[in-house]
Amino acid sequence: MSTVVIIGSQWGDEGKGKIVDYLAQQAETVVRSQGGSNAGHTVAVNGEEYKLRLLPSGILYKGTHNVIANGVAVDPETMLQEMDAMEARGIDVSGIRLSDRAQVVLPYHRLMDGIGDEKLGENKIGTTHRGIGPCYVDRDNRIGIRVCDLMDPDEFARKLKFNLELKNKELQLLYDHEPLSYDEIYKEYMGYAERLRPYVCDTIALLDEEIKADRKILFEGAQATMLDIDYGTYPYVTASHPVSGGVTVGAGVAPNKIGKVVGVVKAYCTRVGEGPFPTEQLNEIGDRIRDAGHEYGTVTGRPRRTGWLDAFVVRYAGILSGIDYMAVTRLDILDGFDEIKMCTGYRYKGEMLPGVPASLKVLAEVEPVYETLPGWKEDISGIRNYEDLPENAKNYLRRMSEVTGIKLGIVSVGPNRDQTIVLAHDIF
Ligand code: GDP
Ligand code: IMO
Ligand code: MG
Repeated sequence: MSTVVIIGSQWGDEGKGKIVDYLAQQAETVVRSQGGSNAGHTVAVNGEEYKLRLLPSGILYKGTHNVIANGVAVDPETMLQEMDAMEARGIDVSGIRLSDRAQVVLPYHRLMDGIGDEKLGENKIGTTHRGIGPCYVDRDNRIGIRVCDLMDPDEFARKLKFNLELKNKELQLLYDHEPLSYDEIYKEYMGYAERLRPYVCDTIALLDEEIKADRKILFEGAQATMLDIDYGTYPYVTASHPVSGGVTVGAGVAPNKIGKVVGVVKAYCTRVGEGPFPTEQLNEIGDRIRDAGHEYGTVTGRPRRTGWLDAFVVRYAGILSGIDYMAVTRLDILDGFDEIKMCTGYRYKGEMLPGVPASLKVLAEVEPVYETLPGWKEDISGIRNYEDLPENAKNYLRRMSEVTGIKLGIVSVGPNRDQTIVLAHDIF
């Protein structure tokens, strides 16, 4: 089967965009199936950087299909801005296909995401303020507006009127905010509708056809396992399912049509926003990792929290998503450390836990159990063969694979396409 799912195994920003872009050299179609413009995927090609939020990372290859499937919360404004920015750089966007079932992000979603999160005070989640959570809330409350509605002016008018009456009450009563104008939103969104219309289609039928024709398809995960609405550090999570199972409902592809799953693993850990992070290093080690890795958010520019690799979390991601191969990224950022630590499990009240605990109270109290491994002094960013990596780097990767129980498939030593070492030749 020629379908490969790429997921994030930690708290996001593992380098999914880079790995998708690398594998997209062979792919014919790249699909986003959950999340929205809360994602920020950076792809570097010949030293040029492309920052993608909604558009699949396959966009950089002419002739690929880039599908935004039904599970995505689509902000039409961001999508069109991204398309314009790509076209201005000479990138062909004609391969984009937008699902008629995808949910539409509206201005009140973005607004409520921002003020709603701030209102939580010390309990705030630290969302990206892109309106993703509120958009999914409307979907689950069955008042969402879908792309098929946006394409139908009467239906859009009817649903927007109904929703805006509710949202304006909420804005005034709960948030002391002035009401939003129906006319303005209607006009703005009808403009987006006309521009997006040529790209809208039944992506379920399209993907079914492509799978039957054995086309090579990549599913590009956004966010990550520890941000999953059920499996992550709830409530400090996103509002969708970034685990591999999310692909089947988010793209309308049955589980038995998924070939391989690749889990992207950053060689250390980062997290943006609030919530527990057991291996966080609030010290000079954390600062050193942040400086070496330029760890600042793509979407919000916030400094990312940094810490040692939590291999226990990666093992959990492997269980939840059935990861066949790890793609380890940013190994080069660890160059020069005398010692590198890896968390292999959590101890709680003297006992080793069998898995990542559900309770945040427990998670806050666990003691990460570390193994200390020797580092390497060499600059590895120019290495292209696994054998040429320093012994201590290979040892670190081997230990990662042993602790997580997941095979090593790819090692990335820099942001560019050629800075990629492939060990698994059966990913597609
Ligand atoms: P994503 O959200 O998972 O796609 O990850 P982001 O794009 O938010 O963050 C990953 C960053 O690391 C991007 O700037 C990538 O260009 C960069 N990157 C990816 N792989 C490597 C690598 O192996 N080494 C280095 N130095 N940078 C990398
Ligand atoms: P990529 O795809 C890292 C985090 C936010 C916040 C929480 C909820 O680039 O890995 P949301 O706006 O989704 O409701 O915010 O999730 N978050 C991410 N962190 N990478 C991402 O995406 C993220 N998308 C959301 O910081 O803590
Ligand atoms: Mg990112």
